[in-house]
Amino acid sequence: MKIEPTSRRIAVLLSGRGSNFQAIANQIDQGMLNADIALVLSNKESAAGLEEARRLGLKTAYLPSAGLKREEYDRKAVALLEENDVALVCLAGFMRILSPVFVKAFPLRILNIHPSLLPAFPGLEAQRQALEHGVKFSGCTVHFVDESLDGGPIVRQVIVPVLDGDTVEDLSDRILWQEHRTYSEAIGEVLDGRCEIRDRRVVIDG
Ligand code: GRF
Repeated sequence: MKIEPTSRRIAVLLSGRGSNFQAIANQIDQGMLNADIALVLSNKESAAGLEEARRLGLKTAYLPSAGLKREEYDRKAVALLEENDVALVCLAGFMRILSPVFVKAFPLRILNIHPSLLPAFPGLEAQRQALEHGVKFSGCTVHFVDESLDGGPIVRQVIVPVLDGDTVEDLSDRILWQEHRTYSEAIGEVLDGRCEIRDRRVVIDG
C-alpha cells in the first residue's frame, strides 16, 4: 500500500525540550525539507519546544490533560489537528501513549522517533536500557505509530556505537545528533509519497 499524504501540512507534538522540533523547523527554513508546520501541539504548558515554536511565529496549541480520560484527550487533539488540515502528525518527545481513537483518525499518518534500534528497548529511558543491557550498538528509529508501544512499521533506523565508559548523557547526545538528521529525511520521504508498506516493511522508492 502506497502512503500518500494529501498535503505537506504537518503537526509536531511535543512535551519537553523540543530539539527534534527545532531540527525539523531548521531543515524547513534551510530548504532541506519541504513541509509546512501547521501546528505545534503540547500537553505541557512549560515545554521549551512550545515556547520556541511561539518565538518562531508558528501556530501553537497547549492542550492540558488534567481530568480527561485518554480517549477524551485524544478526541480533542484529533479535532484540533483536523481543524488545521494536518496531513501528517510527527511525534517528537510527546510523552503520551495514543489511544485507538487517535491512531484510527490518522492511519499510517503518524510518525514517531525513538532513541533505540526498535524493537529493542521500547518505552521510557531507551538509552539507559541499552547501556544497562551492555549492547555495543544502539541508535534511533523513525516509525509509523500503531496501537502498540513503539511497535509500528519502521521507516528509518540509524546505528550509533556505544562506547566503553559512556554515560546515559553521552549516549543520548550521540543518538540525538542522528535523530535530528534522520527524522526530517523520513518526514520528507513520507510527504513525497515515496513510502509503500508491504506487510510490515516500509519500502522507500528511490
Ligand atoms: C528524543 O530522544 C526522542 O527520540 C524521544 O524523546 C526525545 C525528545 O527530545 N522520543 P526533544 O524534546 O526532541 O529534544
